[in-house]
Amino acid sequence: MCGIVGYMGKKDAFPVLINGLKRLEYRGYDSSGIALYNGDLEIYKCKGKVQELENLTGGKIKSAKLGIGHTRWATHGEPNDVNAHPHISNNGDLVIVHNGIIENCDSLKQFLLDRNYTFKSDTDTEILINFIEYVQKEEKVTLDQAVRLALREVVGAYAIAVISKKEPDFMVSARLGSPLVLGLGSGEFFIGSDATPFIDLTKKVIYLEDGEMAIISTTGVSIRTIESDQPVDAVIHRLKMDLDSIEKGGYDHFMLKEIFEQPTSILNTIRGRLFENNAQIRMAGLDAISDKLEKANRILIIGCGTSWHAGLVGEYIIEDLSRIPVEVEYASEFRYRNPIIKSDDIVIAISQSGETADTLAAIKMAKAAGACVFGICNVVGSSIARESSAGAFTHAGPEIGVASTKAFTAQVTVLTMIALYLGRSNDNLSKSRFKEIAKEIKLIPKKIESMLELDDKVQSIAKLLNKSNNALFLGRGFNFPVALEGALKLKEISYIHAEGYPAAEMKHGPIALIDDNMPVIIVAPRGGMYEKIVSNIQEVKARKGAVISVTSYGESEVKALSDAVIEIPETLDCLTPLLTTIPLQLLSYHVAVQRECNVDQPRNLAKSVTVE
Ligand code: M6R
Repeated sequence: MCGIVGYMGKKDAFPVLINGLKRLEYRGYDSSGIALYNGDLEIYKCKGKVQELENLTGGKIKSAKLGIGHTRWATHGEPNDVNAHPHISNNGDLVIVHNGIIENCDSLKQFLLDRNYTFKSDTDTEILINFIEYVQKEEKVTLDQAVRLALREVVGAYAIAVISKKEPDFMVSARLGSPLVLGLGSGEFFIGSDATPFIDLTKKVIYLEDGEMAIISTTGVSIRTIESDQPVDAVIHRLKMDLDSIEKGGYDHFMLKEIFEQPTSILNTIRGRLFENNAQIRMAGLDAISDKLEKANRILIIGCGTSWHAGLVGEYIIEDLSRIPVEVEYASEFRYRNPIIKSDDIVIAISQSGETADTLAAIKMAKAAGACVFGICNVVGSSIARESSAGAFTHAGPEIGVASTKAFTAQVTVLTMIALYLGRSNDNLSKSRFKEIAKEIKLIPKKIESMLELDDKVQSIAKLLNKSNNALFLGRGFNFPVALEGALKLKEISYIHAEGYPAAEMKHGPIALIDDNMPVIIVAPRGGMYEKIVSNIQEVKARKGAVISVTSYGESEVKALSDAVIEIPETLDCLTPLLTTIPLQLLSYHVAVQRECNVDQPRNLAKSVTVE
């Protein structure tokens, strides 16, 4: 949530910052702003997208070599021009951009009000910059020391960048609980909530850790701890990401591009890991904790949103192939409910962004209780990837659309490989069954390719849904989580109320909703649950519900009962989620486009949920 950028160097700062903000817009997009130093501080900010900020600044910008910028997802105060960042201190010397929440902002505000400070916005950020100003005035210290001393009094989460009119040779940034990456160019320095703002300008980065601050000057960067002002030996990483991977590449939306990338992203997920011939999974992260995995009596899977749905698919597959009990829980519940965590538990934490606040906090809690945490993340260098005891990257490539698509199928693929690994390790899975599944996984990318050819058909089926106010998604077995995921996708980007249910649960309540106004999307591929779900479809039809079904090629029974059918190629029951998910992603996408919704940046959402 919220994206921050900063630049200090020889280039003109404005284009660097505005391009950076456009790339970070997926993090929050209700308002944006920029502060530049060119002998004086110039601030532009407004409600709306970065494009509106660019229009506002049109032609007026003087050249500047130092600046910070922000794209906002509102926490304190509604999205408007005044609450947009950057915020300036009362004396007009200091400006700040901030991602996170200052929890003790009320007491800090009162403290400052008592000392005649005034505030224009409703934000916690304006309080913080004035508190920094106050500390600097009282303690008579340099900007970095003022930031450090002020942050020691702050409770909450932050990633900040601060510049000062009086000390324009410095840019100070710090993090606690919100991500921050420094880019090191030649004689120039960048700050970003992630590396995308400067990916075309440098590949050398430092990931700031919680409790660290960076003091950036024209001559270099010094990293120190906030608490004790000790120098930190930071590691410089080399990024592998390139610019193409974060651009739309001819597609109308990132979401569509990402749906179409799935044949490739799944190939990348399995590359060098899945060995059919000798029935082996090679994943360094699993090998690193093999002793713990051998002793594991239970696996807890935690995540949020789509990642939680992937976890549910993982539960079905891991229990099926390895017979190790699995529990799946929302990270937000897990972290606050005093769960039983044992030292021989394996906790699998799933997160595309690797920055989700609840998942991160749940990991810390599990680790403190002695559990071994295995992280499944997409973003290399993310907080969750670094916090986990071991892990595996999904290698799906950058996912920019707020609705998660290719990350989900990559997560399910990693979980399937974990299930295969565990099943072989504890002998619950025969070599021949392993080989059968591995062979079939390798065919999945091609099968997804063939399904993507159904895009036009799905687009016309979307018309059956695009005027609805509600929709019900039903699935069973491995495809129950797919029904949940289909409903989440539809509601988040098209604003149609949608619910996912295990099909058999329908008669325990939701069936009351079914009439000719309630479209029901049924995920019913051939497999263990097929016969049972056919009966569920009949129950819907008997009540005049319109049925859109996702089933296997040639399933005439489901076809005959459905108003529209999307067919998937044949695969093993446990792998069907990797195929059934695809048409549901396309369906949501087309419904959202037909309803003229902002597909990549749905209202009220953000890609990376870094506040709890
Ligand atoms: O980055 P994470 O996977 O931790 O994010 C978790 C959820 O916020 C995320 O999956 C969200 O539900 C998506 N918008 C769903 O499409």
